Amino acid sequence: QVIEAEGMMVLPGFIDSHVHFRDPGGTHKEDFLSGTRAALAGGVTTILDMPNTQPPTDSRAHLQEKMAQVGPKAVVDYGFYFGATDNNIEEAASVADQVAAMKLYMGSSTGSLLVTEFSPIFRHFSTFPPNKPIAVHAEDEQSLLYFGAQGSTEHNRARPPLSAQIALSRALAIAEKVGRRLHIAHTTTQRELELIQEAKQKGVRVTCEVTPLHLFLTEEDQQRLGNFGKVNPPLRSKSDQEALWRYFDVIDTIGTDHAPHTKEEKMQPYQKAPSGLTGVQTMLPLLFNASQEGRVALSEIIKRCVTNPARIFGLQNKGALEVGKDADIVLIDPQQTYEINNEQILSKCGWTPFAGTKIKGKIQQVFVRGQLAFEHDTCLAQPGSGRHVSYISR
Ligand code: DOR
Ligand code: ZN
Ligand code: ZN
Repeated sequence: QVIEAEGMMVLPGFIDSHVHFRDPGGTHKEDFLSGTRAALAGGVTTILDMPNTQPPTDSRAHLQEKMAQVGPKAVVDYGFYFGATDNNIEEAASVADQVAAMKLYMGSSTGSLLVTEFSPIFRHFSTFPPNKPIAVHAEDEQSLLYFGAQGSTEHNRARPPLSAQIALSRALAIAEKVGRRLHIAHTTTQRELELIQEAKQKGVRVTCEVTPLHLFLTEEDQQRLGNFGKVNPPLRSKSDQEALWRYFDVIDTIGTDHAPHTKEEKMQPYQKAPSGLTGVQTMLPLLFNASQEGRVALSEIIKRCVTNPARIFGLQNKGALEVGKDADIVLIDPQQTYEINNEQILSKCGWTPFAGTKIKGKIQQVFVRGQLAFEHDTCLAQPGSGRHVSYISR
């Protein structure tokens, strides 16, 4: 097969290792078809879906139901996280080979998954296969309750950096003690990256993620966006945002934390409005644009959006463009410019916090396993053409 690509740049399909596609149970916000279409339009050819669906992906039966329900809708390749609860320690370990990782919420967010006590955290950390990552949402519930009780309506004050640092320190200490792999979801502050850097230097088996939200937006944007900038962990200060770029070497993956909520839900009063922002469709454009602006090398982006997630989550056939890997390919016209707007967003909720952002570099074609799946703003792939990924056994 010959692909005509004159004037185009050829990139490997991106892997978004952190999305919330709301299927089953929240399909008025997103379902697997709308979510994977948005991914495809954004040059993301593999996604890993979080477990805070309804019911949560917290048992073998719920995992199997989810697989059966969403598989026939997928237009990109996909895998799942297993959600930790206080009582599913043995069950989690027994289905580990069917999932990319465990997700453990140390602080509460959308949905009911939450593990705050030392004992179940320790037991999960010591029972889940040590070479499979446990991804933690590192915000400390006790601090959240304390600060939330102050009644602050400013999201970034109600969920302070301290809460993330406390949870992170606990997770690092336990992971070091039991010698397991740990993946820190959405790091947002300089202090977290310092702690992770120090832990890595000591040999703790930790990797970490940052989101495009926290790379490109700050608490000032939250003022402007209101609830459409409300996310956990919150958008941080300018100085923390700058630190994410300064500590880029410490960051292993970039994942979007794509967490759609409808406009109606977001337009409720602050306390009632759910947290979470869309992102799966805008990650590659934003990062490609940053590389065109000279902020970061494209190769460093590809490491964090393709090579590293494939390695960390053990995705057997995924990775950079090389023989033996799936031909997941994105052709992008580096000269074409456009402005992001809500009308382009294929997510069911139809909005993005990045509306108005100017982008240099437009996705022209996306191939999934060698098949042309997306071309000139049109999704060609049929529902069900996406496949469940296979994992390297570990
Ligand atoms: O803001 C968030 N939204 N943070 C999370 O951890 C969950 C997510 C969601 O699922 O809505
Ligand atoms: Zn999270
Ligand atoms: Zn998330």
